[in-house]
Amino acid sequence: MAAFGTVFMPKMTLATYENEHWSPARLVNSDAIQLHPGAHVLHYASTCFEGLKAFKHSDDSINIFRMDQNIERMAQSSQLLSLPPIDKQLLKQMIIDVVREHIHQVPAPPGSMYIRPTHIGTEPAIGKAAHPTNSSMLYILLSPVGDYFSGGIKPLKLLIEENGSRCAAHMGMIKSGGNYASALGPILAAHSEYQADQVLFCPDGDVQETGAANFLLIDGNEIITKSLDSSFLHGITRDSILTLARDSGMTVSERELSVDELIERAEKRECEAALSGTAAVLTPVGTLIRDGQQVTVGNGQGGPTTQRLRESLNAIQWGEQADSHNWLTRI
Ligand code: COI
Repeated sequence: MAAFGTVFMPKMTLATYENEHWSPARLVNSDAIQLHPGAHVLHYASTCFEGLKAFKHSDDSINIFRMDQNIERMAQSSQLLSLPPIDKQLLKQMIIDVVREHIHQVPAPPGSMYIRPTHIGTEPAIGKAAHPTNSSMLYILLSPVGDYFSGGIKPLKLLIEENGSRCAAHMGMIKSGGNYASALGPILAAHSEYQADQVLFCPDGDVQETGAANFLLIDGNEIITKSLDSSFLHGITRDSILTLARDSGMTVSERELSVDELIERAEKRECEAALSGTAAVLTPVGTLIRDGQQVTVGNGQGGPTTQRLRESLNAIQWGEQADSHNWLTRI
């Protein structure tokens, strides 16, 4: 199967913002956009995006998972980046319309259609380094996907990074390309030095998240993960997993977690750790590397709770279990 996110559906929906108004959305070819080389996004990174999925159920219906939450987050990211305000109703219709256009291409589970709304500042104005763009473009790309981590679900190795940070602290909750670019250097170094899959950013010893997914520690009946603040992405999968954990009687502790406490707990036999995200779903972490030392998390293979929570989430997404939280939108 092609690498995650490298195959695109032929059409996308696109709308533009100018003179303080959004245009109606159009269905256009997805292989090119026209952009002035002086566009604000290319110089001052005025851009944010989202990642959500549509699932095919056994009755052939197509269902989008937590679309409203993703729309809310995109509106918030746009506002925090001083991009034009998102018209939430327009965005919702654009997502539905483009998925409907490709309704027969949505893969059956375990695959899905990954939906990538993207908002970019288009004003050709390179003098506007300290001013927002007054025009923008919103488009919704689709990519049929399987597993994000190539090689299927296997326990990940994470390098703990206590000195650097994933991005500027106040930017962490924005789903913006710049945050991902700023994490790349440490990720590449971790790959080449330690063959690590990802970096777990823990500035000043405070366990935050990896470059592209949230981090959860599962110790017996308790899940520990950082409480929401502006320094990291407020994952919608994170929220879904925590909700399912509470539903199943687990204790959810959203609080500060130090690297010292993480290591101490990780060494216990029953401990588990996992990464959550739209792409990652819930992927077990088998090894942590701190100061060059490898620490095996629990049995190193991922544990039963990670598997159970991943299966509960998938069961709802795939229509195998009642959607008691109304997370799916059937289109
Ligand atoms: C997602 O999980 O949707 C993300 O945006 C992560 C991305 C690196 C695929």
